[in-house]
Amino acid sequence: MEALPVIVDCDPGHDDALALLLAAGDPRLRLLGVTTVAGNQTLDKTTRNARRMLALAGVAGIPVAAGCDRPLVGDLIVAGDIHGESGLDGPDLDVPLAGMPRVADVHAVELMRDLVAGSPDPVTLIALGPLTNVALLLRTHPDVSSRLRRIVFMGGSTERGNTTPYGEFNIVTDPEAADVVLRSGLPITMIGLNVTHQALATPGIIAEFQGMGTRLGAVCAELMTFFAGAYRRNFGFPDPPVHDPVAIAAVLDPPIVRTAAVPVAVELTGTHTRGATVVDLHRRTATAPNADVAVALDVDAFWRLLMTAVRKLGAAAG
Ligand code: BDR
Ligand code: CA
Repeated sequence: MEALPVIVDCDPGHDDALALLLAAGDPRLRLLGVTTVAGNQTLDKTTRNARRMLALAGVAGIPVAAGCDRPLVGDLIVAGDIHGESGLDGPDLDVPLAGMPRVADVHAVELMRDLVAGSPDPVTLIALGPLTNVALLLRTHPDVSSRLRRIVFMGGSTERGNTTPYGEFNIVTDPEAADVVLRSGLPITMIGLNVTHQALATPGIIAEFQGMGTRLGAVCAELMTFFAGAYRRNFGFPDPPVHDPVAIAAVLDPPIVRTAAVPVAVELTGTHTRGATVVDLHRRTATAPNADVAVALDVDAFWRLLMTAVRKLGAAAG
C-alpha cells in the first residue's frame, strides 16, 4: 500500500514532539512538510523545537515553515506552565545547526498550499496546535479544499476542558480558527481530551523509552519526565496524557480510534465557555454531523505504534 501523504501543523510542545516522531517514523505515512504555529510557546520557539526534533530523529530533509505568531483574534497566551520556558523543557536538545532542517522562506500557509497542490494524491492535514494556520489556509486558498483528503485535529473534548473548565487549550487559544475549520464542510476528525486522557506516559512507558538505549529514546524519556511533573503540579494527574500522537495514530491506523459522526460547534461568545467544543454526542438536536469525533482509543495498540517508530528512528539516527 502506498504511504499516505500528510502535512503536520504543530506547536511543540512535549506531545507534539512525540507526534512528529510518529509521523516521521511510520512507513505508512509520507510526511510532506511540517508547519508551525504559536501556541504552547511563541512561534520562534515552536519552530526551533520542531526543527530540533526532526534533526534528532535524523529526518532533516523535510520542509519546515513557520506560520502565524498569534491567534486570528485576541492575544496569544502560551502554556509555559505545562511545556516550560522553551516549550520543550527537560532534555538537552542541543543539535548542530547544520543538522537542522532550514526554515522555508515562505509562510506556513504558502508551504501547505504548495505541498497540497503538488501532491498527486489528496493530502491529510494533521493539526496539533491552535487551528490558526489551517483556518487561514482554508480562507486564503479555498482551492486547496478539493485536494485535501481530510483534516484531523487534536483539540476539544466531548467532556470538560483543561485550560478553562469547558475549554481545551488548542481551541481556547484560537476559537475563531476552530470555528472556520469545523464549518468548512471538509471531512474533519476531532481527537479530543476524552480519548487523549487515556494515552498516559506511565513510569513503564518512560522506562521503555529509556531502555531503547538511543539518544532519541532518552530524549523521549526526559521529555515525558518533565511533562509528568507539569501534569502532577497543574492537574494532580499521576501520569501525563500524550495528546497529539493520538491524532497521528488515528491517521496511520484508523481502527485505533473509534469515532462517531456528530455535530460539533465552537462556543465563541459564552460568558464562561468561550472555546468550548459543543459536541452533540447523542444527536439531541436536528443539526447535521460535521465531524467524526473520537470516542474510544485502543491504548495498547497506540503505544506499540509510537514505540516502534521511536525505536526505528533512534536506531537509524545513532
Ligand atoms: C493540547 O494542548 C497542548 O498543550 C498540547 O500540545 C496539545 O496539543 C492538549 O490540550
Ligand atoms: Ca500541540
